[in-house]
Amino acid sequence: MMLVVQWLRGAVKHAGIRPLCGVEQLISAVRGVSSSSQQLSEFGRTLTSSCTDGDHPKVLITGGLGQLGVGLAKLLRERFGKNNVILSDIRKPPNHVYHDGPFIFSDILDFKNLREIVVNNNISWLVHYSAVLSAVGEDNVALAKEVNITGLHNILDIATEHGLRVFVPSTIGAFGPSSPRDPTPELCVQRPRTIYGVSKVHAELMGEYYHHRFGLDFRCLRYPGIISADSQPGGGTTDYAVQIFHAAVKTGHFECNLSNNTRLPMMYIDDCVRATVDFLEAPADTLISRTYNINAMSFTPQELTQEIKKVLPDLKVTYNVDPVRQAIADSWPMALEDSAARRDWGWKHEYDLPELVQTMLSHITLGNQLAQAN
Ligand SMILES: NC(=O)c1ccc[n+]([C@@H]2O[C@H](COP(=O)([O-])OP(=O)(O)OC[C@H]3O[C@@H](n4cnc5c(N)ncnc54)[C@H](O)[C@@H]3O)[C@@H](O)[C@H]2O)c1
Repeated sequence: MMLVVQWLRGAVKHAGIRPLCGVEQLISAVRGVSSSSQQLSEFGRTLTSSCTDGDHPKVLITGGLGQLGVGLAKLLRERFGKNNVILSDIRKPPNHVYHDGPFIFSDILDFKNLREIVVNNNISWLVHYSAVLSAVGEDNVALAKEVNITGLHNILDIATEHGLRVFVPSTIGAFGPSSPRDPTPELCVQRPRTIYGVSKVHAELMGEYYHHRFGLDFRCLRYPGIISADSQPGGGTTDYAVQIFHAAVKTGHFECNLSNNTRLPMMYIDDCVRATVDFLEAPADTLISRTYNINAMSFTPQELTQEIKKVLPDLKVTYNVDPVRQAIADSWPMALEDSAARRDWGWKHEYDLPELVQTMLSHITLGNQLAQAN
């Protein structure tokens, strides 16, 4: 046992960083004691585990003005209090975002500024949403490399330095044409052919490496395509599944850029943000893995159209296939195998296709009525 403790100490010393809560936990686990209330002094100074956050964690969300960040902030604020969740981005937010809770400018490529924000706000959880998505990434590979890879390195280093719990989403795009597609298991060949996918495999591997090497509390979920009514998608291959709802309500006509039989895994945003918060809250010792698949439903454009037509029978969908997006979609999973998430931390989706369609149409119709009334 002493050998293991010495090895862990050596690993921390060699890394040249302060020991982290995960390492502390691991040492404590080896010794058979709990780290939550324990202070360790064997490293030459007294350490307080940053896993004990008081009543609530203090959360920073990067890239928070995209499709997912505002919805996640809303749920986190309901659970932990408005002022304990800080949204950040490099864009200027709409007024309601300023009113809903703290917002701060943060460019993830500015290491010093990011560190300052973490220190000054006593951040304990970092949700890293900044990214350049699949279709936009193929148009601008240099930007995708910078934001998705260099930016991730900054996040992991700062999270390690300050003992944060860090969540980085991965994606169905982290798989490629040689991965099994229906369903795609947690562990299989990952040879994506987009810069987005390559950067997300890199994020999974780097995060897991930092977890094993430095004890970083890294957590990662592979999201399917996410569908939301209130926020617009940011240039991914599954964007059509959001745009079709707005077109169905507004004009009754939609031109789809994927072929009618392209089957992809999808999830309603409420399931996505609930999964993220539940996973972030899961006790570390229940997590057998640090990267999990989560799955909800899978459908093709044709099946989605049929379901929308049950409510809006006049909807007309035509197809004008974008070869770049189609090639990406053809290399992606049709469904994700997610039994490990269901087993380890109780993941369970609530929205299947019929509930998704009902909910999206009523949100969009209501939103349009309110906009017209104002
Ligand atoms: N939306 C989906 O369907 C989906 C599916 C799988 C995974 N994901 C992942 O979830 C995360 C959030 O996705 P999203 O759809 O909200 O993305 P999005 O493209 O809508 O938003 C990304 C945000 O990152 C910001 N950003 C870009 N460069 C930045 C920089 N240098 N510093 C700080 N912020 C910067 C952008 O301004 C934008 O607001 C991403 O990591 C994405 O890969 C999303």
